[in-house]
Amino acid sequence: MNFKEELKKYIDIVNNELQKYVKIKECPEQVLNESMGYSLMAGGKRLRPILIISTYKLFKNDIEKAFKFAVAMEMVHTFSLIHDDLPAIDNDDYRRGKLTNHKKFNEATAILAGDSLLNNAYNIVIEDIARSKDEQEKAKKTQALYELSYGIDRMIAGEYVDTEYEGKKISSQYLEYMHENKTGALIKASIKIGAILAGANEDDIEKLSKYAEKIGLAFQIKDDILSEIGNQEELGKPVGNDRERGKCTYVTKYGLEASQKMLDDIIDESIKIIKNYDKNSEFLIELALYIKNRNK
Ligand code: IPE
Ligand code: IPE
Ligand code: MG
Ligand code: MG
Repeated sequence: MNFKEELKKYIDIVNNELQKYVKIKECPEQVLNESMGYSLMAGGKRLRPILIISTYKLFKNDIEKAFKFAVAMEMVHTFSLIHDDLPAIDNDDYRRGKLTNHKKFNEATAILAGDSLLNNAYNIVIEDIARSKDEQEKAKKTQALYELSYGIDRMIAGEYVDTEYEGKKISSQYLEYMHENKTGALIKASIKIGAILAGANEDDIEKLSKYAEKIGLAFQIKDDILSEIGNQEELGKPVGNDRERGKCTYVTKYGLEASQKMLDDIIDESIKIIKNYDKNSEFLIELALYIKNRNK
C-alpha cells in the first residue's frame, strides 16, 4: 500500500462529498452560507472523515455508505475550529492558511456559521437515518449518531477546560483530560462511527477505541509541539500563540523534549494495539506515524 496515494484518494473523496453541501443559492443569508463554505472548503487534513471511512473499510468495501457521517463529522470539526478561533476563545487570525472566519467576515457571522455547520451535520445524519433501508441499518446509524453527539459533548467540555485554565497552573490529570476531550473525543467518535456503521462487533469496537484514544491524545500533543516549533506557513495557523496566551499544553507543562518523548511512546502504543488486530490495518498503522511526523 502506498500510504500517501491512499491518503490523497480519501482526501479527494471527502472534498468531493463536502462540496455537495456548500450552498450557493441566492438568499437573504447568502453571506452566512458563503462563510460556512469558506471555512469548510479551506483545506484541512480531513483526518476525522478519513478515520470514519478507513475504519469502515476494515470491515466492508461499500464505503459510500459512510459518506454522510463523514461529511457531518467534518462539518462538526469545522464548527469547532471556527468557534475555537473566536476572540472570546483563542483569538486567532489565521486558520487553514486563510483568515479565520470572524476576520474574513465578522464575529456574528462566525458564531452563526459555527452553529449552522453543527446543525447541518445533525440534519444530514438524521435524514440518512430516516432513509435507512431496514430496521437493522436504522439501528446502526442511530448508534453512530449517539457516538457523534457524545463526541461533540466531550469536545465542548474539553474546550471549556482549555479556556478555564488559560493563564493558570493545571494538574497533569486535568491536562490529559482536556486533551482527551477537546481533541480526542471527535477522533475516537470517528473511529467508532466507522466501525459501528460497518457492523463491527463489540470486541472490535473496543479494540479500535483503544487505538483511537492513543492517536487522539497524540494528535493534540503534536498540535502543542507544532504550536511551539512549527512553521506558520506550512501549518496555516499561528505559531507561538499558545505560549503567548498562557495556554496549558504538554509543551508548557513538560517541555519540548519530554512532550516529544510522550508523543513517540503513545504512537508506539497505538501501533502495537492496531498491529495485533487481525484485520488489514496497514493504513491505520501508517496514519499513526503520519500523526507523529506531520508538519501541518
Ligand atoms: C486542529 O485540527 C484542531 C485540533 C483539534 C488540534 P486539525 O489539525 O485536524 O485541523 P485541520 O482540519 O487539518 O485544519
Ligand atoms: C483545538 O484546540 C480543539 C478544538 C478546536 C476542539 P487548539 O486551540 O489547541 O487547536 P488549534 O491549534 O487552534 O488548531
Ligand atoms: Mg483552543
Ligand atoms: Mg486554537
